[in-house]
Amino acid sequence: MAVARARAYHQVAEEPRVFTDPLALRIIGESALRDSEFDHGLDSDLVRHRRLLIAARSRFADDTVAAAVARGTGQVVILGAGLDTTAYRNTHEDVQFFEVDHPDTQEWKQRRLSEVGIAIPTSLTFAPIDFERSTLAAGLAEAGLDRTRSALFLWLGVAMYLTRTSVEDVLRYIAGHGGESEVVFDYLCPVFSTPHDRGAGQRQERADRVAAVGEPWLSFFTADEIRSDLLSYGFKRVEDRSVAQLFAAYGIRTTARPMDSGGHLVHASMA
Ligand SMILES: C[S@@+](CC[C@H](N)C(=O)[O-])C[C@H]1O[C@@H](n2cnc3c(N)ncnc32)[C@H](O)[C@@H]1O
Repeated sequence: MAVARARAYHQVAEEPRVFTDPLALRIIGESALRDSEFDHGLDSDLVRHRRLLIAARSRFADDTVAAAVARGTGQVVILGAGLDTTAYRNTHEDVQFFEVDHPDTQEWKQRRLSEVGIAIPTSLTFAPIDFERSTLAAGLAEAGLDRTRSALFLWLGVAMYLTRTSVEDVLRYIAGHGGESEVVFDYLCPVFSTPHDRGAGQRQERADRVAAVGEPWLSFFTADEIRSDLLSYGFKRVEDRSVAQLFAAYGIRTTARPMDSGGHLVHASMA
């Protein structure tokens, strides 16, 4: 909900609109818009920075879906979908969507969709999977994903909540997919902070908040580790962007200094 709220607020906030989502507000409900306990007490520049980061990564995902579909990819798998609306905004014909999520989250999303009257498109299949307890291979086979045809995997805001082993298993699974498959995902770098580092202090506060609601950050990677892991699994092209590079690509300027907050966005492909 905290992530979906950021996307919704981005639609109405006075800031460069880098991501347009007509369902973002509807899926959370108007009353939920400003009421974020996750943001209470945090520096407003940092809250804006985080919101823009969430918007920019979704924009990147939308752009990657459009490019993949134009090249002929017919399957999009959204891992840890949360309240993501990609499948419900789809305008491309003949593209199949799969939403994978923890069974509890998925049940909650389906209730929300029905409460707010967002129809589930026939092109969407749900695959309830706990990444820590069962395999994507089994869950997605059951959902009908064709392992021999190209697929784009979107995996935003999830890897940091999983153990390193689970992250590696998911990336290996994607690398083993047939066709010209690709993945977009974000991860956190370890932050080496000094005692008076404001950015690191705020990041610790955010880490404490997610841990307090039972979803602690569990894995951190350096950019070198991610790159060499992906190449060793068989990915041919790995593009890794820091937050600063992502923001620059979309013309976003912030006054906050957590450009070193540790978030990175990766686009890796088999072709
Ligand atoms: C911060 S949310 C991001 C949601 C969505 N990708 C977005 O950007 O709005 C993290 C998501 O990871 C999912 N998740 C966390 N741990 C999981 C697990 N062990 N198995 C499956 N999904 C998990 C949660 O259910 C949630 O949907």
